[in-house]
Amino acid sequence: MAAPQTIAIVGAGLVGSGWALVFARAGFRVKAYDPAPEVRAGILPWARESLADLAEVGLVSDAEAILARISVHDDLAAAVAGAVYVQESVFETVAAKTEVSLALDAVIGPQTIVGSSSSGIPASQFTEGCRQRARFMIAHPVNPPHLVPVVEIVPAPWTAPEAVAQVVDLMRAVEQAPVRLTREIDGFVLNRLQGVLLNEAWALYEDGIASLADIDATLSQGLGLRWAFMGPFETIDLNAPGGIADYAARLRGLYAGMLRPARGPWPDAVIARATDERRASLPAADLAQRRAWRDAKLSRLVAFKKSQGLSA
Ligand SMILES: NC(=O)c1ccc[n+]([C@@H]2O[C@H](COP(=O)([O-])OP(=O)(O)OC[C@H]3O[C@@H](n4cnc5c(N)ncnc54)[C@H](O)[C@@H]3O)[C@@H](O)[C@H]2O)c1
Repeated sequence: MAAPQTIAIVGAGLVGSGWALVFARAGFRVKAYDPAPEVRAGILPWARESLADLAEVGLVSDAEAILARISVHDDLAAAVAGAVYVQESVFETVAAKTEVSLALDAVIGPQTIVGSSSSGIPASQFTEGCRQRARFMIAHPVNPPHLVPVVEIVPAPWTAPEAVAQVVDLMRAVEQAPVRLTREIDGFVLNRLQGVLLNEAWALYEDGIASLADIDATLSQGLGLRWAFMGPFETIDLNAPGGIADYAARLRGLYAGMLRPARGPWPDAVIARATDERRASLPAADLAQRRAWRDAKLSRLVAFKKSQGLSA
């Protein structure tokens, strides 16, 4: 049997450590690098706990073997040596991304591809000076990547199409769900969609149309149920007898009437009011526990989707 291929994780905080699980779970050898000793020390204990949860819901059966494929490194070159792919997940600033991209450019092999977890900074803003920039791109996940499969693949103007195709194939092979953008755009697709929804949620709340809890429930007890397995286009295709064109004929006037001019940034006073309401129902000290609750629910939803043939 051929030796497993190696993936390097560069920056192993919240998102990087989730990526380590994604690749190790799929059989890759994973070498994780982070400059912070306390972050390095937390990677394996966190992975062990997360794997126990995944095992409990039947999403993995060989937790010890998966854990054994992950190694932790305090040297970038050692972590990247022999890697076919590098998933970079350092701080979301142009300075940090530029520094690490140039450092990677100096140590990666001639075939190695680099995907950045960047949530919104396009690769053209930090890879221009890389000699091997044709093999750098964005591979933007959702947190936590080992539970939420979508990954936005966004090329810079100089990214080679073959490299994009290889990353799309790799993501499918590790059971993520790659979504391909043809070119860079601020916020990519996911945060542009989320931004529209958040803007409207803030406006409805500011105008006193509904409470924060009721606006949240409209999603968690409403739209979100369908969104766990279909998007807005398929939704409207099924919601009129004659499909998407029929839906548009019936309802586009209604939607056009609702559109309002964009407002400025979310106002500080409204953010403060929302914060008071949220902290009254979830004290700040309980945020971490609630995140763990979210991940436990997510893992069960993922297991259910898998049982229904609805996984990536
Ligand atoms: N947290 C999210 O919800 C989320 C979702 C999708 C994408 N992202 C993106 O993932 C990236 C990482 O975010 P995070 O939430 O994991 O942040 P984080 O602060 O948890 O982790 C960042 C890690 O990068 C390390 N680091 C800093 N400089 C480095 C360097 N030069 N080389 C290697 N490692 C370095 C830090 O020590 C830290 O552990 C960001 O680009 C972020 O926008 C975050």
